[in-house]
Amino acid sequence: MARAVADEIGADRTGIRISPAFPLGGLDEGDTAAVRAQYRYLVGELAKLNLVYLHVHHLGDDELLASFREVWPTAVLVVRYGREREGIAADIDSGLADIAPLGRFALANPDIVERLRTDAPLNDLDPSTLYVGGAHGYVDYPTLASV
Ligand SMILES: Cc1cc2nc3c(=O)[nH]c(=O)nc-3n(C[C@H](O)[C@H](O)[C@H](O)COP(=O)(O)O)c2cc1C
Repeated sequence: MARAVADEIGADRTGIRISPAFPLGGLDEGDTAAVRAQYRYLVGELAKLNLVYLHVHHLGDDELLASFREVWPTAVLVVRYGREREGIAADIDSGLADIAPLGRFALANPDIVERLRTDAPLNDLDPSTLYVGGAHGYVDYPTLASV
């Protein structure tokens, strides 16, 4: 599928997201050895396509993450679910990632870059607004300039 998409729109416009061992919706990918083997093979094969990025939803197997970096030719994005503000850049600092994606921080803070740059306080996300339909909670958090 990744090859078909890249053939159609270009590898330089195609990234991929993986979530090794993420148990969302009752998924069970097996024990650690099975997860490592599956994802090392998958990432090794995907690496041949020279996609623009690999985005890893990372649960904490740093050895596995490091093995991705060894074979992946372009940018590696890493998100650790539930990390605090202080931990956003940790994987870049340690060399495990090139880019720190921001999901919920960015949803709740439309000016997130400015807030981080100036060490300003962050809006808290209201989880009750997620996955319920409508724009509320997605487009209406205040910027610093508006308060
Ligand atoms: C509203 C919302 C929708 C999401 N949808 C997806 C999705 O469709 N596929 C996916 O892999 N992750 C999805 N995620 C998970 C995010 O990509 C990310 O892994 C997660 O929010 C943790 O990163 P964060 O701490 O920067 O938010 C979603 C998260 C949120 C808050």
